[in-house]
Amino acid sequence: MHTFFNIPNPKVQAAFWPFCRPSKAACTPKQGLPMTPTQHTVLITGGATGIGFALAKKFHAAGNRVILVGRREDVLRQAVEQLSGSLHDNGARCGYAVADVSQAEDRARLAAQFPETGILINNAGIQFTKRLDEQTDDEIAQEIAVNLTAPVQLTRAFLPVLAGKPQAAVINVSSGLAVVPKETCAVYCATKAALHSFSQVLRWQLENSGIRVFEILPPMVATPMSKGKGHAHLKISPDELADEFWRDFERNRFESMIGKTKWLYWINRFSARLGQRIMRKGL
Ligand SMILES: NC(=O)c1ccc[n+]([C@@H]2O[C@H](COP(=O)([O-])OP(=O)(O)OC[C@H]3O[C@@H](n4cnc5c(N)ncnc54)[C@H](OP(=O)(O)O)[C@@H]3O)[C@@H](O)[C@H]2O)c1
Repeated sequence: MHTFFNIPNPKVQAAFWPFCRPSKAACTPKQGLPMTPTQHTVLITGGATGIGFALAKKFHAAGNRVILVGRREDVLRQAVEQLSGSLHDNGARCGYAVADVSQAEDRARLAAQFPETGILINNAGIQFTKRLDEQTDDEIAQEIAVNLTAPVQLTRAFLPVLAGKPQAAVINVSSGLAVVPKETCAVYCATKAALHSFSQVLRWQLENSGIRVFEILPPMVATPMSKGKGHAHLKISPDELADEFWRDFERNRFESMIGKTKWLYWINRFSARLGQRIMRKGL
């Protein structure tokens, strides 16, 4: 199975993808031209590490102001120092907020504190790689709260803020596991499948507004979350993910299936049984 997944190089993937991507109707609401990818304030949950930080670097380098959100202030401060040092912006275009997105008061505080936000990136996530009968009540509640309740409620809290902008976006980071789940993390996969569905429906609900809804479906990415899991050679770097997403973002492609997620999507369309055989034990 792994050999099969290794065959396509990025150029071959890119050549085939126009034939495999979800139908245009499903991912292209009537929102005119692609949004200007610069001069927004971008609030990124989980923005100090892994995928969130790679997206922060990308948006920052493109001339946006980024606000990183997380629970650990030392990690947030380091990330902001790295960003401001890299482009000599003296901190004018990056900042941070300490918040736990699973807490309603923290979500309300973020929306009140950053009314200039034009792009909300719901990226924070946690994963417990355990059988359901090994998970505690608290772990299950936490996983659902961070991965699903937080993006849904944070989006709702920010809708009035985003509605006031000429161009705005919500970007949800789900997972390839939303397309086909794996055996070792039932709750995680369920939250990501729900986030995928939520993104699709929200896109319909907002199609006549100035708020676009993007979704990033990452494959295995080498981040703190995936450390010690899966095969190292099958993981892409967070920067590779951000580069690939950026190409979709600039073209108004709302469902950004990254790397091997494209293949998984296509295989699953062709044969759901084959998709499940490949994914059941994880990559
Ligand atoms: N890595 C992969 O292979 C992979 C694949 C598919 C999808 N994803 C998804 O990509 C997203 C980013 O994950 P990652 O791989 O970059 O992992 P990561 O480096 O562990 O990032 C998770 C981030 O979320 C923040 N976070 C966690 N709980 C939070 C809370 N309650 N409130 C605020 N922030 C919180 C963490 O910061 P603090 O701990 O400081 O709060 C951390 O910065 C997740 O949604 C994940 O499910 C990852």
